[in-house]
Amino acid sequence: MLDLIIRGGSIVNADAIIKTDIAVQDGRIVSLGDAALLGRAKRVINAAGQYVLPGLIDMHTHFEAPFMGCRGALDFYSGSVAGAFGGVTTFIDFTNTRPGDSVLARVKERREEMAKAVIDYSTHAKFVEANPQVIAEIPAIVEYGCSSIKLFMTYRKEGVMIEDDGMLAVLEAARKWGALPGVHAESNAIAEFHIERQRAKGELDWIDFPKAKPPLCEEEAVRRAILLAEAAGSPLYIFHLTSRRGLETVRQSRLRGYPVYAETCPHYLVLTQEMYRQDEGYRYIMSPPLRDADDCQALWTGLGQDVLVVSSDDCTYTLAEKTMFLPQDETGGRRDFTKVVNGVPGIETRLPLLLEEGVQQGRLTLQQLVAVASANPAKLFGLYPEKGVLQPGSLADMVLVDLAQTGTLQADRLHQGIDYSVYEGKKITGWPTMTIARGKVIVEGGNFVGVRGAGQFVRRKPFAANR
Ligand code: URP
Ligand code: ZN
Ligand code: ZN
Ligand code: ZN
Repeated sequence: MLDLIIRGGSIVNADAIIKTDIAVQDGRIVSLGDAALLGRAKRVINAAGQYVLPGLIDMHTHFEAPFMGCRGALDFYSGSVAGAFGGVTTFIDFTNTRPGDSVLARVKERREEMAKAVIDYSTHAKFVEANPQVIAEIPAIVEYGCSSIKLFMTYRKEGVMIEDDGMLAVLEAARKWGALPGVHAESNAIAEFHIERQRAKGELDWIDFPKAKPPLCEEEAVRRAILLAEAAGSPLYIFHLTSRRGLETVRQSRLRGYPVYAETCPHYLVLTQEMYRQDEGYRYIMSPPLRDADDCQALWTGLGQDVLVVSSDDCTYTLAEKTMFLPQDETGGRRDFTKVVNGVPGIETRLPLLLEEGVQQGRLTLQQLVAVASANPAKLFGLYPEKGVLQPGSLADMVLVDLAQTGTLQADRLHQGIDYSVYEGKKITGWPTMTIARGKVIVEGGNFVGVRGAGQFVRRKPFAANR
């Protein structure tokens, strides 16, 4: 007896859409075909008129992440529940490495912290220094199942930036042991240079924030990271790319045949720096900053051409947390973008935004949506074909999408329990109606029906440039 049949839907893989029924047994897809021939099942889900996508992978979240003195509003339970509502069945977070730490110990500690998640999880191994002890841990980290590394090219003052010589050492070891190294690419020197000059001129209002870290600040770091990777012979992944200039730099390297990959995030596709004009402009402060409409346009093109993938960079704080370091005066908080805690919520809204702004607006096909938010992330981060595709043998991680269902993004209707959304009031056509993780329905009829701790730590394979 099968556990589950999903009947009448159209399954969407990156390479094809086929109308077929799906048979699930013990958490895996066992066959595709006509339900009448698949056998009997304990439960049959009617997906007529809906699309069935591989569960989304969010390869960039920050839950339980101390940053600028804040711990973060979401833990691995609440963050993963929000993800489940957004069709996410796997997320990859980051270790909280500090100087002097064993990175392997941080990876193992993170795994314990993530155990309360309701969907599958992994972590990128963050390196904030490159001494021989931590470099020597890289093979064991990859062997443990964490085949990706995170490096910060900025935040020197916060103690997490890695210098170029350290980057080279990590990149070389990553190449040798099959890890995909990824960078937060902003030039620390250019950002600090601008911030000090703007401070002297009193230009620290929200609207001045993007001037401190303009596209050239991103381009300098992207270019340098690619060249350092090339020197070390390693592949490279760029986290949260935001600008046309950054994208062109990536594109040029790919045209030269260099294995460089990059992600962007929904906020860089959908929002512009005009948001910083609002009194509430601090809500939109994340790094890198929002750009202008031309950059959004370039990023959409990059997605359609398979140069980019899309993560959320969910880094959720309440409004009180975002403003907790702002200097106060008699009228309330004073504006100073350097004192705002960076980051916005996003794990739940990525799919609705890609459906509305991508599919409905004709910028992405459903297949391309699957490519950028599930299949290609699975390939890059060592999860394919267990995840990222619906085929016999794959895990039964799925999200059902009704392209005709409408919704509105509103903080009080999202599931993060946070007092704002940067998309407040946005109308969406196309909505996830059901999320299935390892063959178990976890979101249905607008309710969470999963189980705390049901997510599993997924051992990711070493990086192979085979996509
Ligand atoms: O502003 C952001 N993105 N906060 C999260 C940390 C990071 O740099 O990704
Ligand atoms: Zn970052
Ligand atoms: Zn981030
Ligand atoms: Zn979130």
